[in-house]
Amino acid sequence: MKIGIGNDHTALELKKEIIAHLESQGHEVVDYGAYTTERANYPEFGEKVARAILKGEVERGVLICGTGVGISLAANKVKGIRAAVCSEPYTAQLVRRHNNAQIIAFGARVVGNEMAKMIVDSFLNAEFEGGRHQMRLDMITDIENRE
Ligand code: RB5
Repeated sequence: MKIGIGNDHTALELKKEIIAHLESQGHEVVDYGAYTTERANYPEFGEKVARAILKGEVERGVLICGTGVGISLAANKVKGIRAAVCSEPYTAQLVRRHNNAQIIAFGARVVGNEMAKMIVDSFLNAEFEGGRHQMRLDMITDIENRE
């Protein structure tokens, strides 16, 4: 699978580990930055990965900042994007099965490296179930369209 990844300065080392982990599984990873530990603003990278998904450059996204919250908030401002912050694999699986999230987000200051890998694996290995869940997502789209 082709996966886009983005981060701020708090998450550079964890991002490198996640990229290596994904590539070892045969995934192709596109790195949208940040590329250094110089202070960086998470909205820039959340937006880049979100737009890459909508353009079809990548199929799924991984976003990492200190908590995962700021970068996911930015991604969710892009119409049609569902980015979910997760700190454990159970939720990471369900945001695919029930919420059809295209992006998983987590915090480099919150989860350890091994937990982060489990979160990403659970997210990527689960599929959207449709049905009643699609109807609820349509309700979210309706909120978006009424804004
Ligand atoms: C940066 O200090 C921090 O605010 C950022 O990484 C993130 O946690 C914001 O939600």
